[in-house]
Amino acid sequence: MHDDNMITIVGSGKVGSSIALQAGMREIDGEILLIDIIKGLPQGEAMDINHTLAEQGRDTIVRGSNEYADMQGSDIVVIVAGVGRKPGMTRMDLLNTNAGIVRDVARKVGEYAKGSIVVTVTNPLDPMTYITLKATDFKPNRVMGMGNLLDLSRFRSFIADELKVSRRSIQALVIGEHGENMLPLVRYSSIAGIPLTQLISNEKAKELVEKTRKVAAEVIALKGATIYAPANAVVEMLDAISNDRRVVMPVCAYTDGKYGVNDICIGVPAVIGREGIEEIIEVELNDEERTIFENGVNAVREAIRSLKL
Ligand code: LAC
Repeated sequence: MHDDNMITIVGSGKVGSSIALQAGMREIDGEILLIDIIKGLPQGEAMDINHTLAEQGRDTIVRGSNEYADMQGSDIVVIVAGVGRKPGMTRMDLLNTNAGIVRDVARKVGEYAKGSIVVTVTNPLDPMTYITLKATDFKPNRVMGMGNLLDLSRFRSFIADELKVSRRSIQALVIGEHGENMLPLVRYSSIAGIPLTQLISNEKAKELVEKTRKVAAEVIALKGATIYAPANAVVEMLDAISNDRRVVMPVCAYTDGKYGVNDICIGVPAVIGREGIEEIIEVELNDEERTIFENGVNAVREAIRSLKL
């Protein structure tokens, strides 16, 4: 496929290369560029992925480079550079380690890929998305973070397992901090339009919410990292942007007054299309939901305040 669209992925580790592979298999764009500071890594990943795509008859071209300048002309840039958490760590424990990395990469994006839309993945996701927005100096609609869509994939998985129904029958929503204060919204979840609250007890709902909050740490304890699910969530966002789908999905966005919150990046439902965040959707929250949401906002605000960037 030889259109002139290009997606750059900065960070060619397990998640970054899995994004490239999954996006290539879906022929999301004509070209994917993997960038990393490790000599040879992006180049080797690109070759391995191209061989896979060739056998599948997929024509997305994947390239690897160690030069940031090569991202020139990118339509979308994914920032996944940084350190992943180790067993026993919270995402927020990575704040000081990753803040400088993301700031420096975002500055390069602002310099070399001025017309791009950015999807930040590095943890702690919400503060890193805010840093990306400030360091690129892009308009807020062009900078988003991938966090709650991943949380949603887990919540959806647990609901389907509990009810023993197809995963495709599950509609659900998770917003707020991609972290300890994430907010799976049971009230806004349904199975083929049937409210989840009619099908499971309050206690069971709370159990599924807690499992959603904790499962990433369990995967990390077992296999060392989460890879395919984060990559898949990013590719859903790339597909929505690249194909102007106007999909409604939760993304980390700059809330300029929405949800009564100013000057922060946090997970909210949004319409995602060619212009990035086309619109943020405000949903009504009850007292309990609002408290959890605001706990997340406060955690993110405190994290940003603590950074001496
Ligand atoms: C997770 C990481 C990507 O939730 O935050 O798997």
